[in-house]
Amino acid sequence: MSIIVRKARLEDGAGIYAVEEDAFSVPWSLDSIKRDLANEERTMYYVLEREDGLIAGYAGLWKVLDEGQITNIALRKIFRRQGYGELLVRVLMEAAWEAGCTDIFLEVRVSNQAALQFYRKLGYEVLSVRKNYYSNPVEDAFIMDCKKRSYPWVR
Ligand SMILES: CC(C)(COP(=O)(O)OP(=O)(O)OC[C@H]1O[C@@H](n2cnc3c(N)ncnc32)[C@H](O)[C@@H]1OP(=O)(O)O)[C@@H](O)C(=O)NCCC(=O)NCCS
Repeated sequence: MSIIVRKARLEDGAGIYAVEEDAFSVPWSLDSIKRDLANEERTMYYVLEREDGLIAGYAGLWKVLDEGQITNIALRKIFRRQGYGELLVRVLMEAAWEAGCTDIFLEVRVSNQAALQFYRKLGYEVLSVRKNYYSNPVEDAFIMDCKKRSYPWVR
């Protein structure tokens, strides 16, 4: 079955929430997801959708002036390590550059080796550490940043 990346719609809330439940010990609430999807002026969300309508993953970003803040990116486990995450985030990042962002920031658990490796490949660098940022389990976050001018367009 084929898979596409497309802009998220309001009706994708439940599908995105199901991805969150598959991916995280503390999933984001459905209400927060819906609130973000409805706030089109400030947010950009993309989903990875399988031909049969299943939402396989999603990525989101808040835009404040010329800065983007990735809210989250997650794929259902069975869709990982096939290049889909990279495709999804590149689409999101290119849309953010296009919309006027010059920097994109994000937080990631310091132990999340897969995500750290993933973000490094996409051009993110560690800026600082935020102590005890996460709960369940309590853990520090790395703050990472990618600048438009250093974004690896071609690899
Ligand atoms: C992080 C995540 C989105 C990556 O998505 P993915 O589709 O599996 O990643 P891709 O297949 O596109 O991989 C792109 C690159 O990321 C890196 N990468 C991805 N998964 C990795 C892993 N498990 N270990 C090491 N590197 C990994 C590699 O550099 C890979 O490039 P390569 O295939 O040329 O080696 C996915 O693992 C996920 O949903 N994790 C759970 C949620 C999460 O932790 N989100 C981040 C929160 S801040």
